[in-house]
Amino acid sequence: MSDSHETPSIDRRLLDQPWRFWSTVAVAGTLLGGIILGALIIPVVQGRSAGLDAYTAICRALGILPGSPAQPQPSDRVQRTPVSQVVWTSELLHILARADPARGRTKALESCAACHGETGIAVAPDVPHLAGQSGPAIYKQLSDYRTGSRAHDLMAGIARALDETALADIAAYYAGRPMRNPNPATLAPAPAEIITLVELGDPRRGIPPCASCHRAGSGGPIETPVLAEQRDEYFIQQINLYASGQRRNDLYARMRTIAAQLTPSEIAGLAAYYRAGFR
Ligand code: HEC
Ligand code: HEC
Repeated sequence: MSDSHETPSIDRRLLDQPWRFWSTVAVAGTLLGGIILGALIIPVVQGRSAGLDAYTAICRALGILPGSPAQPQPSDRVQRTPVSQVVWTSELLHILARADPARGRTKALESCAACHGETGIAVAPDVPHLAGQSGPAIYKQLSDYRTGSRAHDLMAGIARALDETALADIAAYYAGRPMRNPNPATLAPAPAEIITLVELGDPRRGIPPCASCHRAGSGGPIETPVLAEQRDEYFIQQINLYASGQRRNDLYARMRTIAAQLTPSEIAGLAAYYRAGFR
């Protein structure tokens, strides 16, 4: 036996065991294919249907840019809107709980009664009633007028002249005023489709039932206003302002998304339903 037989050259060993070569090729090929597919081809194809250019889509897939390669709006480029600044902290809930309606009455007579009435029954059609309105609802709207997240020059000026405690006192005063007695003449039965909207909503259009938030004890957000006995003019105006996005102080756009789905005849029907005092 010669030495060359006992120690074959490197070249020879590779040729003797071709699986070493081909398994390396297979592993490297799978890896490379995966990278090309996952970081280039899929993001570019998804990005094209989302209207993104190839570069942005690839950068997003690699995590260099924020957002998903399959979505047109990256989270950090969404237009910021001045929504409500009100946060229901325990400190704020304490201020509301300690509010003094008697002090509130004095201030209300000074600065609110001319429009909202001494007992919260307003005279002019575009001024909302405040009698029996929920305290947190009144407080939130006043805060939003103050910060400008609900735009109204007149109410903004009035709310800015008062401090937080005064707003809470006035809210407590009006919240404690009795509502008007519903006028029996307006208590005609509401049309079935309006009752359906209030009680069941319209799942096909993504409209939740109004009563799931606007009925006392329904568990809706704390700032949900009482709608019962509110006047038509004001009700319709506010739904239209939400629908057009001019009123945008509703947290999570809860009312904007609902209002945008309602037809004019539904809005009129709902206004009449609530004006009649149905809760
Ligand atoms: C000169 C008339 C006027 C005076 C005075 C006035 N308001 Fe108003 N108030 C209005 C009008 C008009 C609106 C509806 C504004 C809108 O469309 O946003 C309104 C809206 C409100 C709302 C929102 C109600 C809701 O259901 O969302 C609250 C709360 C309110 N006023 C409280 C007060 C308080 C409290 C005072 C006194 C500190 C006061 N207002 C003084 C005219 C007035
Ligand atoms: C998910 C809960 C929720 C549902 C469902 C809901 N609302 Fe509201 N609604 C609210 C909240 C909360 C506000 C107060 C938003 C803000 O801060 O401006 C509001 C405000 C309103 C206002 C303005 C009242 C005022 O005094 O300014 C009207 C009118 C109204 N809703 C009507 C409706 C109608 C009609 C429906 C059913 C088609 C409905 N809402 C369904 C939570 C809801």
